[in-house]
Amino acid sequence: MCGIVGYIGSRSAIPILVNGLERLEYRGYDSAGIACLNGQRESLFVVKEQGKLARLKEQLQGFDLHSRIGIGHTRWATHGVPSRDNAHPHQDASGRIALVHNGIIENYAVLKKELQRKGVKFHSETDTEVAANLIGHYYKNHSLEEAFRKAVLRLEGFFAFVVLSAEEPEKLIVFRRSNPLCLGIGEGENFIASDVTPLLEYTRRIIYLEDDEYGVVSRDKVVLRSLKTRKTVKRATVHIDWDISQAEKGGYPHFMIKEIHEQPQVLSAAIQKRLNRRGNVYFDTLSPGMDKKLKRIKNIYLVSCGTAYHAGMVGNYMMGKYARLPAEATVSSEFRYEDPILNKDDLVILITQSGETADTLAAMREAKQKGAMTLAVVNVVGSTIARESDAVVYTHAGPEIGVASTKAYTAQLATLAFLTLYLAQLKGTITKKELKRMIAELRKLPAAARKVLKQEAAIEKSARQHYHRRNFLYIGRGYNFPTALEGALKLKEITYAHAHGYAAGEMKHGPIALIDHEQLVICMAPRSRTYEKMLSNIEEIRARDGMIIAIGTEGDKRLEKLADEIFCIPKTEEVFSPILTVLPLQLFAYKIAVFNKRDVDQPRNLAKSVTVE
Ligand code: G6P
Repeated sequence: MCGIVGYIGSRSAIPILVNGLERLEYRGYDSAGIACLNGQRESLFVVKEQGKLARLKEQLQGFDLHSRIGIGHTRWATHGVPSRDNAHPHQDASGRIALVHNGIIENYAVLKKELQRKGVKFHSETDTEVAANLIGHYYKNHSLEEAFRKAVLRLEGFFAFVVLSAEEPEKLIVFRRSNPLCLGIGEGENFIASDVTPLLEYTRRIIYLEDDEYGVVSRDKVVLRSLKTRKTVKRATVHIDWDISQAEKGGYPHFMIKEIHEQPQVLSAAIQKRLNRRGNVYFDTLSPGMDKKLKRIKNIYLVSCGTAYHAGMVGNYMMGKYARLPAEATVSSEFRYEDPILNKDDLVILITQSGETADTLAAMREAKQKGAMTLAVVNVVGSTIARESDAVVYTHAGPEIGVASTKAYTAQLATLAFLTLYLAQLKGTITKKELKRMIAELRKLPAAARKVLKQEAAIEKSARQHYHRRNFLYIGRGYNFPTALEGALKLKEITYAHAHGYAAGEMKHGPIALIDHEQLVICMAPRSRTYEKMLSNIEEIRARDGMIIAIGTEGDKRLEKLADEIFCIPKTEEVFSPILTVLPLQLFAYKIAVFNKRDVDQPRNLAKSVTVE
């Protein structure tokens, strides 16, 4: 949700800012803007445009201001429609300062009235312009740092800021509360961004800001202080070793399709990282002390949003079956308002690609406050949820740029599978023989995934037939009920067609009324405990003239006969099947979106990292 960048150093700032915004555009793309110091005149140069970054880039063509300092923003609208006026950076009334913001200022209306009474005129509907003017107000009698502090102390809500002043051209001020912000430390230059992806081509040395800390960032120095006490805070840099080429399209037309094809590799890496020399499951980030606590756990809650929630649902089945623990998967936005009854015997597993999702973060804080143990399953190293949870395990999927999650999902599933086996190992609910067999099955997954993805051409052919449809139904049972939900979510996210995921057993309680010769139903029917039941559901759809695309197991002749079309996965353990069955669904959604000429990587109204509740 909104991407912010900043630069100070000796290079030309505009290309660095634009480059950074390009990498952050997945966070929002309603408008974009930059503010720099005009090298010669020490005045602010602000350019902003409604719409995607490409439009801002057109505006900036030919400009070389020799500016060595600047800030930039790509917006996902919260307060105020997407428009040029509402685009960031926002300036104060005097035009001396410019500010970019990610988050929500909850008491902005009251502050706006107060400033209006003082004669300040506003040009946008945003909460951000209020913050710029409040800082501007204090700036009349204080330094930028102190004016910033005084203003931010009065703001309620969750936000990250970067501020630039024409009068103090040797520094940028940065701040975060709940919304992410990190600094890239260079030689004689420093970089700022909402996440590490824009920073990695310049530096691997990263500082993550903590809540309620602000920083004064100059070319050679970064000073962090507590907002409340002004006390200096010491923070070591973290080394990030992500491969930057993973954040490039590498010849593919879209990030999404590239990320779909990266899944075999991601699974391989996930598997290698989770097995020690003796072939036992291990997590490098879990200490023996943590193991002791995990052994005592009596209940598990899996809490997450969007695609990660579907991973949580699969995890729920896995943990119940193999670790023999009562487990419950809930969406984060519901969990925290359910007033959950939690104590030290409960383990709350937060699943999140970004590690920044506001609802999941709030759920984690609620769980901690109630005394439960929190364990985060996170992709982004050093993200807020990874840092604040009691324990963290990483999914190692590498940067995921496409807004619709694909490789992060399968990496979450693989990590949850290992976590399940790990808990089962700790609790003694799995025999050595069984564990060995399960691990051997897991090892087969990368090759199996590669095989499934080879059906791309056939899936494209199918998508060509169906891309005009506006209504899709996905059904599944057990481990593949969440897959049905995920398939439907993928499709609606990037094609804007209506898609509904349903538990196949529930068809007869309502959705079967939808079935006629025009209704396409995508049926998850790999070999499993519920296979026969699934086949009955498919028969029922056929009997009512519905069209069927089945996802089944290789060599399943019965299913082949029943379905109009079939895509197959190699034989695998039922518990691991969702890692494979989702792959054809990802390709199907992608191809349909492409045939409909949708903006696959940046679907309308969505953002990859949702940092508002
Ligand atoms: C957004 C993204 C989804 C993602 C969800 C949760 O809605 O578009 O792809 O699944 O947030 O994000 P997280 O980073 O917590 O996994």
